[in-house]
Amino acid sequence: MNPTTLDLFADAEPVQQPRREQIGEQSYVLRGFALPWLERLLPALEAVLAAAPFRQMITPGGFTMSVALSSCGALGWTTDRSGYRYTHHDPQTGQPWPDMPEIFLQLAQAAAQEAGFSEFLPDSCLINRYLPGAKMSLHQDKNECTYAAPIVSVSLGLPAMFLFGGFERGDKSQRVPLLHGDIVVWGGVDRLRYHGVLPIKEGQHSLLGEQRINFTFRTAG
Ligand code: SIN
Ligand code: FE2
Repeated sequence: MNPTTLDLFADAEPVQQPRREQIGEQSYVLRGFALPWLERLLPALEAVLAAAPFRQMITPGGFTMSVALSSCGALGWTTDRSGYRYTHHDPQTGQPWPDMPEIFLQLAQAAAQEAGFSEFLPDSCLINRYLPGAKMSLHQDKNECTYAAPIVSVSLGLPAMFLFGGFERGDKSQRVPLLHGDIVVWGGVDRLRYHGVLPIKEGQHSLLGEQRINFTFRTAG
């Protein structure tokens, strides 16, 4: 290989070729699906974060989550000493959560459609920020009022190892590497599967720096 070619690719991050991988009966990873949307997604994300900045929340058990959170849409997922729940207001500012940007909604609907879920109408987008070392323990998404709608989960920035488990915490989980631009969609018979994220490794992403950002779209109310 000529040295110029080598240099060109030395710093390049792996880029996903768009494709759909099935990880469960009604669960898919849509590789690179968010990439064409980024130019419109990132300014919208900045506006949301200006109104509702990332903050670390406390679990009912008294632990500070390693992941920092924000939300947009009618409902935002929160946790404190009294439990997990969805609220209409940001507990930190007392203001309603920022509206869900139109571009967020469109992306979530397009991804859901691609995974076989038409008419997805999310009213909540949880925004998770992982710095290196941050993780998400295995859990089920079950604070929502309905399980009829799927979960649409967008990965940006540093890579992550996503754990996709079964219906019991102790079930064996698949390890699914997620890169910048990938979207995981699970619903239907898979809606209550346990999932989590292993600690994020040190690294620098060309666009987002030393962090991973995840959007989780849900129909909560
Ligand atoms: C979550 O389950 O809330 C987050 C999943 C992820 O960060 O990929
Ligand atoms: Fe989750």
